[in-house]
Amino acid sequence: MIGRFNTLTVAAVGALVLSASAYGLAADKMMAAGTDGFSIAVDDNGKISLPDVDYRKDWVALGSWAVAADEGEGSAGIHAVYTQLEAVEAFRKAGAFPDGTVLIKELFSTETEDMTTGTVSRAADTSGWFVMVKDTVDRFPANALWGNGWGWAYFDAGNRLETTSTDYRTDCKGCHVPAQNTDWVYTQAYPVLKGK
Ligand code: HEC
Repeated sequence: MIGRFNTLTVAAVGALVLSASAYGLAADKMMAAGTDGFSIAVDDNGKISLPDVDYRKDWVALGSWAVAADEGEGSAGIHAVYTQLEAVEAFRKAGAFPDGTVLIKELFSTETEDMTTGTVSRAADTSGWFVMVKDTVDRFPANALWGNGWGWAYFDAGNRLETTSTDYRTDCKGCHVPAQNTDWVYTQAYPVLKGK
């Protein structure tokens, strides 16, 4: 009888622990990606696509970069960077992007004109997107678009589903080395991560 009671107790405690960790996992996933999967930008095989969300309206605009024109005044391009609200909230608490975070960098061509404020460049057409997806557990070690804690991919404006990137080590990593100490992300341009 005592033996049976003990077994039952152990089983009950086990079930509690299990459901607690299952809940934790589900909450993590929802926080990171807003879906039941690891990330809305990634399928089970690690294939990355531009997530089908209205990121301009529904995500946080982290910040933007103005690339100076080689000749003449103004900017040749504007890079606008977005992520999920949950990722910003987690970053403010922990100082790091949580698993499943998606960063989208949208590339805009520009129009430059004289305005009442001076010579001003503004975003015109989208030419493509750079996407990074945070992966804290190294899910896809055999996939050349994954490594250094992220999935990496570029998409031309004409094709949001199929990346033209083949290997992040040659396509992306070298240029992100200066940001290595901030988890490969150029966080200095994203004041929203710091708070008010
Ligand atoms: C020519 C150098 C270069 C290459 C190649 C490059 N990046 Fe970047 N990336 C940068 C720089 C510099 C920034 C920030 C300034 C800017 O956008 O001009 C940046 C910013 C980003 C951002 C915004 C978040 C952040 O890190 O600040 C994403 C997302 C991104 N890159 C993804 C990629 C991916 C994915 C690849 C490969 C497919 C890639 N980059 C290739 C230089 C590069």
